[in-house]
Amino acid sequence: PLHYRDDLKSVLIPYGLVQDRIEALASRIFSDLHIHIPEQLICMCVLKGGYRFFSDLVSKIQNENRLRNDRSLPMSLEFIRVRSYVNDHSSDQLEIMGLSDLNVLNNKHILIIEDIIDTGVTMAALKTELEKFQPKTVHVVSLFTKRRKDKKCIFKPDYSGFEVPDHFIVGYALDYNEYFRDLEHICVMKESGIAKYRVTGDDHVE
Ligand code: PRP
Ligand code: MN
Ligand code: MG
Repeated sequence: PLHYRDDLKSVLIPYGLVQDRIEALASRIFSDLHIHIPEQLICMCVLKGGYRFFSDLVSKIQNENRLRNDRSLPMSLEFIRVRSYVNDHSSDQLEIMGLSDLNVLNNKHILIIEDIIDTGVTMAALKTELEKFQPKTVHVVSLFTKRRKDKKCIFKPDYSGFEVPDHFIVGYALDYNEYFRDLEHICVMKESGIAKYRVTGDDHVE
């Protein structure tokens, strides 16, 4: 869109390709996990970055349910808010919100749906927290995993849509200080864009 035109370097992955990949993930996940039926699969959305991927993936799994009459995968939906990033770096404070009423996870199958695994710190911490509720199984799907130059990623998801190069990416709900979530394509920012929306000191984004 017009309001981000000067802040972006290039489109890394167009929206259509993201959708195709999610369709493939949905069919793989459906095939692997329907064996747990008739139990529900708890699909857990990791807000905010994961909301579009969550929404599209759940719809596409529903499509699988609609198209088949030999098998199905019943789902329930949960939402959790995890945040650590300020500017383009993970801060040392990881906040996990909305966990208190998650006793519903006890003895259940969970699929954590996340947008990106970069350092892996967020997912490693979240998975450890969720294990406390003693679910039966926990699977993790991330639309993106980062190919980090320092090779340091402490978490590997069960399913991943794309491996992306070591750039800060935005769009399709992935943000930079709460900007660019309202962008269709996955894009790489210009240095000038990174500087323009940078926050300093006590300027806190919510
Ligand atoms: C981003 C992203 C992942 C996490 C990945 O969330 O959505 O949740 O960071 O980074 P890591 O693997 O290095 O931990 P962020 O903290 O920006 O919150 P948001 O989802 O609300 O944007
Ligand atoms: Mn996130
Ligand atoms: Mg973010």
